[in-house]
Order: sequence, then C-alpha cells, then structure tokens
Amino acid sequence: MRADTWRALSFSAGTFVLGLVGWAGLIGPAWPAGDPARGEQAYESRCGGCHSVREDRVGPRHAGLIGRRAGSVPGFDYSPALRASGLVWDAALLERWLTDPQALVPGQRMGFRVGDAAVRADIVAYLATLREPR
Ligand code: HEC
Repeated sequence: MRADTWRALSFSAGTFVLGLVGWAGLIGPAWPAGDPARGEQAYESRCGGCHSVREDRVGPRHAGLIGRRAGSVPGFDYSPALRASGLVWDAALLERWLTDPQALVPGQRMGFRVGDAAVRADIVAYLATLREPR
C-alpha cells in the first residue's frame, strides 16, 4: 500500500477515536458522580465544626438545603451578601460554593473551601439526600 493511503487510513482512525471520546463526554455526567455515604463522613469531619443538619451553629442548618433559597433559614444571622444573592441551592451551585464561596458570592462569611473535586462531589451527593425534617 502507498504511504499516503496509510496516512489517510490512520487519519480516519484518529478521527473515529476522537469522535468516540467526544460522544462519551456528551453522554457522561458533567462531573464525577459523588458517593453520599463517603460524603456523609466528609461532611462530619469538614463541615461539622460549623454546621449540622438540624441545628444552626456557626453556619446555618442544612436540612432541606436543595431547592432552598440561599440565606433563608429563619433566625440565622447571614451576611447581607448571601441573603441578597437571589441564589437557589442546587447541586451545580453547591459545587461552585464549596469550590470558592467568595467567588460565587462576594462578601459572604463562610471562610472554608473544599479543594478536592472528588470530595466536593461526595459532599454534594450527601447534601442532596437531606430533606426537611418533619
Ligand atoms: C468555619 C466555619 C464553616 C465551615 C467549616 C463550613 N461552613 Fe458553611 N457556612 C458558614 C457560615 C458562617 C455560613 C453563612 C455565610 C454567610 O452568611 O455569608 C455558611 C453557609 C453555608 C451554606 C449556605 C446555606 C444557606 O442557608 O444559604 C452552605 C450550603 C454551606 N455553608 C455548606 C458548607 C459545607 C458543605 C461545608 C463543609 C464542606 C461547610 N459549609 C463548612 C461557616 C462554615
């Protein structure tokens, strides 16, 4: 076979592989799915000093967080910035909040971030399981 035929063949094989990778990217999740059980442990150790699910501490309680307006737990003393942010918590926003709260809501008062993307995904998966206690 002539050299330029080989080049043409290997080029189309490369395009095919790139195409597959592209499809996997479209079909797959936007970020690695977290594990709620691991997330609960990470929550206890990293967030538990300031937050709990049912009680306000240094930070507000987290029961019913997904779907809740940011800065809206009655009686908790939020920063004016978070109260006025107009955000409604969902998984994507929590991911951004835990990456860098100050970038998401300048003027907020939570001095804590989670740098590890896998740990963030686990914590967000856990937070998504918290329902308002009856
Ligand atoms: C050093 C204490 C501290 C730690 C540690 C901390 N937080 Fe916070 N958190 C706060 C404070 C204070 C606020 C309120 C911020 C404001 O009013 O601007 C807050 C607010 C929040 C909010 C917004 C809640 C609402 O009602 O709008 C979320 C969500 C949150 N924290 C999640 C977490 C998670 C998840 C962790 C662990 C990875 C964590 N926080 C660790 C202090 C902390």
